[in-house]
Amino acid sequence: MKILVVGSGAREHVIAKKLSENADVYTYMGRKNPGLRDVSVDYMVNDESDFDAIVKFAKDMEVDIAFIGPEAPLEMGIVDTLKAEGIESVGPVKSAAQIETNKAFMRELFETYDIPGSIKYGTFYDLDDAYAFIDDFNEPVVIKPIGLTGGKGVKIVGDQLKDNEEAKEYVKEIFDQKMGGFSGVVIEELLIGEEYTIQAFVDGKNLVPMPAAQDHPHAFEGNKGPITGGMGSYTDTGALLPFLTQEEYDQSVEIMQKTIDAIAQQEEPYKGILYGQFMITKDGPKVIEYNARFGDPESMNVLSLLDDDLSKIAQQIVDGTLEDVKFMDKASVCKYVVPDNYPATKAADTIVEVDSDAIAQKDADLFYAAVYADENDDVKLTSSRAMAVLAIRDTIDEAEAACEEAIGFIDGEVYHRSDVATKALLDEKMEHMKNVRG
Ligand code: GLY
Repeated sequence: MKILVVGSGAREHVIAKKLSENADVYTYMGRKNPGLRDVSVDYMVNDESDFDAIVKFAKDMEVDIAFIGPEAPLEMGIVDTLKAEGIESVGPVKSAAQIETNKAFMRELFETYDIPGSIKYGTFYDLDDAYAFIDDFNEPVVIKPIGLTGGKGVKIVGDQLKDNEEAKEYVKEIFDQKMGGFSGVVIEELLIGEEYTIQAFVDGKNLVPMPAAQDHPHAFEGNKGPITGGMGSYTDTGALLPFLTQEEYDQSVEIMQKTIDAIAQQEEPYKGILYGQFMITKDGPKVIEYNARFGDPESMNVLSLLDDDLSKIAQQIVDGTLEDVKFMDKASVCKYVVPDNYPATKAADTIVEVDSDAIAQKDADLFYAAVYADENDDVKLTSSRAMAVLAIRDTIDEAEAACEEAIGFIDGEVYHRSDVATKALLDEKMEHMKNVRG
């Protein structure tokens, strides 16, 4: 079987690595990711929005199906384009991908189909109406641009925003800049609890969930600093998290099932990976948002635990015949190594030295993200997350320690969050949830 992977980050590296265990992988990437190159039978480096080039590469390589990694090509309709050329994809068509690409669509879908896990919100295309909503609401709010912003557009009162007055200033900025492509905004109630992620394989009708994961979006230790794409994530045994019960996990999966049922009814069947970002609150699971693709870094946790053939699952997604999927019952910890200036956007272009053999000897995995191999095959930094290290062990503690040890074999102008998944941080989360649940 021949599978095309589209995308150039660590998420695509783990997808391609897993697929390559049972299939021939062909990669179309925007930047020469050394990890993707090494697991691909062939690859092409070119603009990821050039659909003509993607179709041509897919046809030249005679691929059977495509696996779309990032959200940007999904928003632009890559799955529809490939379908028109006779190539089916793991990834939703444009109308179904709106569950991620249009925050107003997502909230309205929940309202129309009475899906549990919804929250108080308003969608506004008029600035004065948005201001009036914030004033009347009189509680801390969360401000979201409607369209895609690379995970950096959401701002929360009490975190990045001081108060609701600053929230109004941010709303004006979104309108003025048409941030995310819309002069509009979604304003939501602030949820109190712990965030977690459940990712699922979806074949249009059936949904198979993966182990729950928790990301660490803040840049600095102690959950401080700006929001990033994610500095590290962990999973626990039993597919749960230390603060998440089986009942809450099941309720979350039920919400996801109802969401894909609603998308099929209102739009077109959803095929691909559905990423549910939830908050466990005193009133149970609430949906923060959905992504129409694997999470990054969470994909590395769950796909490394996958004890099954991803190419077979990909075919079943396309055919609408998804069956049960097996995962190892272990804990995993993944930590991102990022450029010293991250998340500031100054490109570094300096060499990062990686002893991948030593990392492998420590029984850890290395996934390349926003780095590139130069003409001398040196690995160079860009402005974004560089590479991720993942360890799987019987407990989170053991996986965390193994991950730290392996990161010691990476050297350059980089840093990472050493507190990700540590006992001290997890104890704080447990204490927090105890207080939230009352
Ligand atoms: N880890 C957050 C995301 O993938 O969007």
